Amino acid sequence: MSISLGQILLGTASAALQIEGNLPRTNWHDWAEAGHIADGTTPHPTTDHWNRWREDNELMADLGLQIARISVEWARIEPEEGRIDRAALERYREEIEDLRARGIRPMVTLHHFGNPGWLEDQGGFTVEESVGKFLGFVERVVSGLGDLVDDWVTINEPNVYATQGFMFGEGPPGETSWPKLRRVIRHLAVAHCEAYRMIHSLLDGPGRSVAVTFAHHVRHFEPMNPGNPLHRAFTRIDDELFHRSVEKAFFSGIFDAFVGKPSREIEPGRYADVIAVNYYSRTAVTGLKDGVFPGVETTDLGWEIYPEGIVEVSRVLHERYGLPIWITENGCADNGDADSLERFRCRFLLAHLEAMASSGLPFERYYHWCFVDNWEWSEGMVPRFGLVHLDRKTLARTPKPSARMFKELIQAGAITDEIRERYSEPR
Ligand code: BGC
Repeated sequence: MSISLGQILLGTASAALQIEGNLPRTNWHDWAEAGHIADGTTPHPTTDHWNRWREDNELMADLGLQIARISVEWARIEPEEGRIDRAALERYREEIEDLRARGIRPMVTLHHFGNPGWLEDQGGFTVEESVGKFLGFVERVVSGLGDLVDDWVTINEPNVYATQGFMFGEGPPGETSWPKLRRVIRHLAVAHCEAYRMIHSLLDGPGRSVAVTFAHHVRHFEPMNPGNPLHRAFTRIDDELFHRSVEKAFFSGIFDAFVGKPSREIEPGRYADVIAVNYYSRTAVTGLKDGVFPGVETTDLGWEIYPEGIVEVSRVLHERYGLPIWITENGCADNGDADSLERFRCRFLLAHLEAMASSGLPFERYYHWCFVDNWEWSEGMVPRFGLVHLDRKTLARTPKPSARMFKELIQAGAITDEIRERYSEPR
């Protein structure tokens, strides 16, 4: 049976720090230098996209991508506080113009885990002044690129950024402080709400539809043992802290007791035009940390492959906020084996897309994470999330079977029996 993809546009997502290389100092450069990356790599050269962007755009066009989510790096555009690198902004313009000329609709993320070194030295988003500084940066970018871009993500995964850096200590600056965790979420939420209003006031006009949102990392939480009251309680707590409190502030400008009241006045209202979901996996809950049910199929990073989850988490958000849904990230670490570039990515993709297309929910976009194998933060270059294989020595790009399948799906506008048959089995 063929399943129509209906109105869902298909493309890929990426983040500047994970692909560009050649960047001025950021919080992640410091983190890498301090020895926190599993394979000892740094944010340079990653995939060297800064120099190879034309080749990447061309490959995206060859694959027929309809949409592309990219990010601009604050440190590159403002390498020192108050100094804007116009050439860098111009270079991003060129890249985005080229995407558009190839018929690929760009979406731009303004903050994807990276802080300029100078901001990090001042305490990053733990200090309130960061909000005004971020807004200054947003204004420069949106004034410089706004005529080319209708779709914006202000901040990527505030819950992941804050918990990694300030709760689990697994990302920069590697702290474990509840007061800082709450402050960071609060400041990011204020920054988002104000950026939402600013982008609209700069870009809205007759005949133009601008979409601004934040990318929400959502997991499907379930108690490891439903009979265990502690597991059940933590499932509620995790959902409340990791999703609800953060979400209320970002979607609605409602700051609850956990996030805390901001000192800048934010009117409760609507601060997102679409629900942007980054979905990867399900968590079997026993406490605050991630867990996996025994015996389930997992990716090379040990994350459960749970396609139904993409619909389950989106349904909850749709019931709460009633907006169209864009999957701004979904993907898997699949490093293949001796004979193949990947083992299960095609199956993973088909199962997630099929769940979305048959859900009855208003899914409009699917951005696969990611295009070319990239630098996976503290995991370094080892996990391969790309549709396109990166040779780590030569940096040569080779499309994987999943890339060919993606192209066929876009051409067919449907998951056909032929596609399913050709790509379902490991090859
Ligand atoms: C992040 C990406 C990351 C991906 C896979 C998401 O949480 O937004 O930057 O590479 O997960 O690990």
